[in-house]
Amino acid sequence: MPDQRVTQRLDDSEAGVATGAALLRAGKLVALPTETVYGLAADATSGTAVAGIYAAKERPSFNPLIAHLPDLTAARRQGLFDANALALARAFWPGPLTLVVPVSSGCSVSELARAGLATVALRVPSHPVARAILQAAGRPIAAPSANRSGRVSATSAAHVLADLDGRIDAVLDGGPTKVGVESTIVACLDGAPRLLRPGGVPSAAIEGVIGRSLVLAGESGAAPISPGLLASHYAPAAGVRLDAEGPRDGEAWLGFGPEPVTLSPATLQLNLSPAGDLMEAAANLFGYLRQLDMAAPATIAVAAIPMHGLGEAINDRLRRAAAPR
Ligand code: TXA
Ligand code: MG
Repeated sequence: MPDQRVTQRLDDSEAGVATGAALLRAGKLVALPTETVYGLAADATSGTAVAGIYAAKERPSFNPLIAHLPDLTAARRQGLFDANALALARAFWPGPLTLVVPVSSGCSVSELARAGLATVALRVPSHPVARAILQAAGRPIAAPSANRSGRVSATSAAHVLADLDGRIDAVLDGGPTKVGVESTIVACLDGAPRLLRPGGVPSAAIEGVIGRSLVLAGESGAAPISPGLLASHYAPAAGVRLDAEGPRDGEAWLGFGPEPVTLSPATLQLNLSPAGDLMEAAANLFGYLRQLDMAAPATIAVAAIPMHGLGEAINDRLRRAAAPR
């Protein structure tokens, strides 16, 4: 069991942000909003603070964390950017993109946060609260998604508390997150950039900037792929059945677009986006999975989601939610 802590509730006022930053500088654990999902933040330069993240989430410590920075200049102190990494950072930062690059000689991100790797994952988020806290903290901030390891990511302060109340020092409530799925992770190590995780920036947009197709991690045969990309992840307690044409008896239903069948009013049901908008669906995904799961159905049947744009990230998360546990 992780340490018991009293979890302070902070709002997104100037005072809330100042308190959040002061807690981080003091080595505490603070959940805060980013544009993708809520992050469980701690001082990335402190091994002790980072160990607190792993304990609170019950996350395996071989799974490295993303270091968050206020801008590209700060990020370049931590990692070595080749031409592709620079072009991608300039195109998509601040925003939902994480770059995995070789560590610089001056890298201050702790070994524990990097899980001992010679590479580091860097991200400059666009959420105003995250940016204000990063500026005030004045050091890289490690922040995995603010959920217990393996569970559905948190897109609101209430989701954070459902998983982590009493395990972290504070949660800063900045309202629901806009993008709803985590950042896209691209490794720029040697040669061609590799996609480690689909996310908030569609891979077609990345390919537009680098001027070539992205190599999929694992396909080139060469390790390392993202240690955190376990098959089962983002998992509700219920089973998940994908590409369903409709709910079977007793199943909950997660729809997308106009419903193909008339659903019985007795069916527990939500629709990610009745209009078929993938951005809206991404923003609703984790919250709706949590909501359906609360009624404890044996299975959640999910409609097919198109693969373009954010559909890539949505399908990736749903596949992991449905994977054998
Ligand atoms: O949108 C996001 O990225 C959110 C917000 C809070 O920023 N964060 C997030 O962190 O999703 P997390 O820890 O849930 O996912 C980070 C992923 C993990 O799968 C981890 O294995 C991978 O990034 N990762 C971190 N450092 C890496 C490295 N050096 N090489 C390869 N993969 C790395
Ligand atoms: Mg996560």
